[in-house]
Amino acid sequence: MMALSDFVAELDQLAAQAQEAFDAASSQETLEAARIEFLGAKSGRLKAIQKQMGKVDKADKPAAGKRLNEVKQAIEETFTEASERLASGDTAGSSDVVFDTSLPGTSLAFGRLHPISQTIDELMDIMGRLGFSAAEGPEIEDDWHNFEALNIPREHPARDPLDNFYLSTAKQNANAPDDVLLLRSQTSTVQIRVMSKTPPPIRIISLGRVYRPDTADATHYPMFHQMEGLLIDKQVTMADLKSVLRLFATSYLGSEVHIRFRPSFFPFTEPSVEADFSWNDNWIEFGGAGMVDPNVLKAVGYDPDEVTGFAFGLGVERLCMRRHGVSDIREFYKNDVRFLQQF
Ligand code: DAH
Repeated sequence: MMALSDFVAELDQLAAQAQEAFDAASSQETLEAARIEFLGAKSGRLKAIQKQMGKVDKADKPAAGKRLNEVKQAIEETFTEASERLASGDTAGSSDVVFDTSLPGTSLAFGRLHPISQTIDELMDIMGRLGFSAAEGPEIEDDWHNFEALNIPREHPARDPLDNFYLSTAKQNANAPDDVLLLRSQTSTVQIRVMSKTPPPIRIISLGRVYRPDTADATHYPMFHQMEGLLIDKQVTMADLKSVLRLFATSYLGSEVHIRFRPSFFPFTEPSVEADFSWNDNWIEFGGAGMVDPNVLKAVGYDPDEVTGFAFGLGVERLCMRRHGVSDIREFYKNDVRFLQQF
């Protein structure tokens, strides 16, 4: 005897296998062979199941017969579909789906790092080879790190509210400078943060954003990036500063680059210079530098008779613009993908 449920299960399994075989066929010949295997009148597999109907209980026979007809019809339909597919010229049977490595590829557009991020990575790399390690500081700073410890006294014009993004203007008065918070206007703040925590010798760079309320034009933007450098040791001289900056400039811009110092003034360096790099017969100013002022060394608890050092602060956008021939700083912050894709 055979239970009706077993009979039905065999039929369903056969229908699934037939569908698979017909779908896989990639020519009329293979399809015909599959048809004979499943639907063949004499020894087809459906026929074999049909023969088992004799073993099904008499009472279940009508149900079994009904199911047999349904499955037969379903298998015939999938055969017709496969036959039509082949007739229409679609010979890609599912068993033939292969990856053709000789076909031309279509490239996918991946994202990329922003040109300024790429520049920062490269600058860190160059300075890393010169023995400088990267340090970081917060973008929201207090009076001490942005001004006081950098030898910028209370009445100094660099503290002008028109030149700084103060965050707590209500508290801004000469009696409570400790409460003043601002978006840092220079990365020189990181010099103080590092020296306050670490004894000499020091050899660091710090790359990050600074903020100044400038009106945006081709060369100004209210937020930009600086690379701050600081080296403190025994008997450091201006010659060391110039050598490091020359090595840096030639690594980043090419071996034809020359470097020149012009006398300048910064409260935190003495003497102070503007550093210019030559480029295609032009001298271009890249930032400030100098020997760290003894007052700064004292503010962080160093002994100016024991150690000296140099510092510099260069504009990252300016370097990147030179290198890549970008003439307007605003291009970096428009987020126009047609511009950004070029880097
Ligand atoms: N902090 C200065 C600025 O933003 C640049 C600068 C000048 C940094 C001289 C230095 C330095 O470290 O020694 O304009």
